[in-house]
Amino acid sequence: MVKTGFIGAGTTGTALAIGLFQKGCPVVAVSSRTLSSAQKLARLVSNCQVCHTAQEVADAAELVFITTPDDVIARVCRGVHWHEGQSVVHCSGAHSVDILEPARKSGAAVGSFHPLQTFADVDQAIENLPGSTFALEAEEPLLSTLKKLTSLLNGNWVELKPGDKVLYHAAAVFACNYLVTLVKLALDLWLDFGVSSKEATRALLPLLRGTINNIDNIGLPNCLTGPVARGDLGTIEGHLSALEARSPSLLTTYKELGLQTIPIALAKGQVNERKAEEMKVLLGHPEFFAHCHSEGVPMESGRPKNLAQGKPWRVSKGVGDSSLRSE
Ligand SMILES: NC(=O)c1ccc[n+]([C@@H]2O[C@H](COP(=O)([O-])OP(=O)(O)OC[C@H]3O[C@@H](n4cnc5c(N)ncnc54)[C@H](OP(=O)(O)O)[C@@H]3O)[C@@H](O)[C@H]2O)c1
Repeated sequence: MVKTGFIGAGTTGTALAIGLFQKGCPVVAVSSRTLSSAQKLARLVSNCQVCHTAQEVADAAELVFITTPDDVIARVCRGVHWHEGQSVVHCSGAHSVDILEPARKSGAAVGSFHPLQTFADVDQAIENLPGSTFALEAEEPLLSTLKKLTSLLNGNWVELKPGDKVLYHAAAVFACNYLVTLVKLALDLWLDFGVSSKEATRALLPLLRGTINNIDNIGLPNCLTGPVARGDLGTIEGHLSALEARSPSLLTTYKELGLQTIPIALAKGQVNERKAEEMKVLLGHPEFFAHCHSEGVPMESGRPKNLAQGKPWRVSKGVGDSSLRSE
């Protein structure tokens, strides 16, 4: 089995080192910014040399993982004398393999090995690792080696081209980081009716788990529930006016997410095109929605039918039909 080494003994480096070591893959050397982090990792795997420099790791290992923060990877790579016959990978989701160009120029095989998982601390990282997907960038024979390592870690893999990496990472930000943001927004609303964030978290967690179970078991679009899935215009209107009173910035987020949810509701088939158009108007232009309802004006793609395509419009606070004007 390939002899591995780690430069950067943080959460990801330590979790990967332990995961590989437990499956019989030797972890022969580790270095970090501080000696204490390297020593800590080395204590968790047997026969691992604690190194004072990244170069010592590169000299001892056949496959080197650079598991430093993203911003440091290129500098660490530049600082090492690489040679033909060895391999070096980084674990960044945002950067392509190109940041390892100095190693490639020296004849080393280069790759990236990104676990699509969230690692808040080492214990939790080790627990979350099995079943994770790894985004791989490399040429053969390194690519096959990396695929084998994902199997050792009970993971799956997806192969990416350098140009895919930025959108791949943006997708991960939506699915992981912004989910945290959405939960925080929900918790803040619970504070308004006097429930602490701790209690609210306890209340919302089963809902979050149920949602994830539904995504897993039922899948998109049928797992979507709620007022947009049902086309409940009155409920959405109520949310908009309550949020407008409480926090205009939250209102913007609610409307944008609602607009992004309408195509899922349509695909589920619980709402028809007409209801979807009404929701688009309500979420995109609530004032115009109110006007249409009171005056019986037809709605089409979020704009009044009598306005030319492409022209912006607004609803004045005045009365009568002249209140619809292009600007
Ligand atoms: N955390 C995640 O959820 C996650 C998930 C997937 C991929 N990743 C990727 O994994 C990589 C590491 O992220 P992380 O979250 O594990 O970071 P981390 O916990 O902050 O660990 C980074 C480690 O790098 C060390 N370091 C910093 N500068 C260094 C240098 N110049 N030379 C050598 N070591 C240095 C630090 O050492 P000291 O402890 O000695 O100061 C630290 O232990 C990143 O590329 C990240 O994108 C992270």
